[in-house]
Amino acid sequence: MAAICITNIKLLVNTREQHHVLKGSELTDLPCINDAYLIVEDGIIASYGKMNSGADANKFGGHTIDASGQMILPAWCDSHTHLVFAASREEEFVDKIKGLTYAEIAAKGGGILNSARKLFETSESELLRLAWGRLQEVIQTGTGAIEIKSGYGLSVESELKMLRVIKKLKETSPIPIKSTFLGAHTYPLEFKENHAGYMDLIINEMLPVIAREKLADFIDVFCETGFFSPEETETICKAGISYGLKPKIHANQLNLSGGTQVGVKLGALSVDHLETMDDDAIKVLAASNTIGTLLPTAAFFLRMPFQPARRLIDAGCAIALATDYNPGSSPSGNMNLVIAMSCIQMKMLPEEAINAATNNGAYAMELQDETGSITVGKKANLIFTKPIPSLAFLPYSFGTNLIDKVMISGEFV
Ligand code: NIG
Ligand code: FE
Repeated sequence: MAAICITNIKLLVNTREQHHVLKGSELTDLPCINDAYLIVEDGIIASYGKMNSGADANKFGGHTIDASGQMILPAWCDSHTHLVFAASREEEFVDKIKGLTYAEIAAKGGGILNSARKLFETSESELLRLAWGRLQEVIQTGTGAIEIKSGYGLSVESELKMLRVIKKLKETSPIPIKSTFLGAHTYPLEFKENHAGYMDLIINEMLPVIAREKLADFIDVFCETGFFSPEETETICKAGISYGLKPKIHANQLNLSGGTQVGVKLGALSVDHLETMDDDAIKVLAASNTIGTLLPTAAFFLRMPFQPARRLIDAGCAIALATDYNPGSSPSGNMNLVIAMSCIQMKMLPEEAINAATNNGAYAMELQDETGSITVGKKANLIFTKPIPSLAFLPYSFGTNLIDKVMISGEFV
């Protein structure tokens, strides 16, 4: 593949020679270069700098793209999605408008169980076709790396079916994908009174096959009142860890579930959701190496209080932002909306939100060596904005598509 030089970039965003997980006040530091160039070779960022530095841009003899007036950002890193699902659930959406709660819908066999029934009836090839379409859609909105969970299977056969779909997506996707096994999303009806029985299936029937076929990178548990207790979460995650799967946990969404504490204790890569946090959970997270992943579109869609981003950041936590793309609590995979909501409703600064959606999102998937910042050697997965007056204009103009083009591994999609 030929080399490309992008010239006259109004602002090259998140340029980092070195990178690490950004915690607390570090999140406000978003290094940028005005009037910049960027050279891509074989799909990889080869060099970048200031246009007038007389450096590589002027000596460049190959193909040039003029980005006058445009900003370039690292593509979004969406570290929490349930993008493989069989069908939408807008009938529950209407039920909620009429007054039913998420818990009430779940209790009458809706929610996750509804998605599991539909997934059971859908073939692997059809699931793949549907998920592929969603993947293309989110790439168009600037997502350049993504995590995808199982969890709508809830039986050995269906969980493996979901994970095989994710594996096929990985093999053909232009963007990096990480796979998470979420067999412990809810108890299937037949195991409602027999938790030990379902945990046995997860640990002794699902995990060995998943490990043998290399179907997952991480393990997840929905640690929540009425779903999996902290003790059950610990048992399942420890089994996953024994197969090399690091935990990424659904924690503190609906209740003070103890999910954050158990996640930190297990050395989880991330604890995700965090709508419901008290001082102890915040303190424990801040003192750990676990990333807190906030999913504001899920809070928005479920009409819940937003995650306490300011308290988390002020306490020194590492924060990532993700979509939670799924048919029940966030039927949108649009990271631009997540960033806007984080600034508007959670009072994150635009710089904090962009760092959380790129650098820290990459770390929350262990993809930090491939993506998440403008760094030599990382993939040229880039967002080209339309002409905009400032970076803050991105979240400020919520709902407006300000992306001109998306580049994945050096090619426009
Ligand atoms: O992340 N919280 C649990 N799981 C999903 C929702 C799943 C569903 O309703 O289908 C979430 O919000
Ligand atoms: Fe989720």
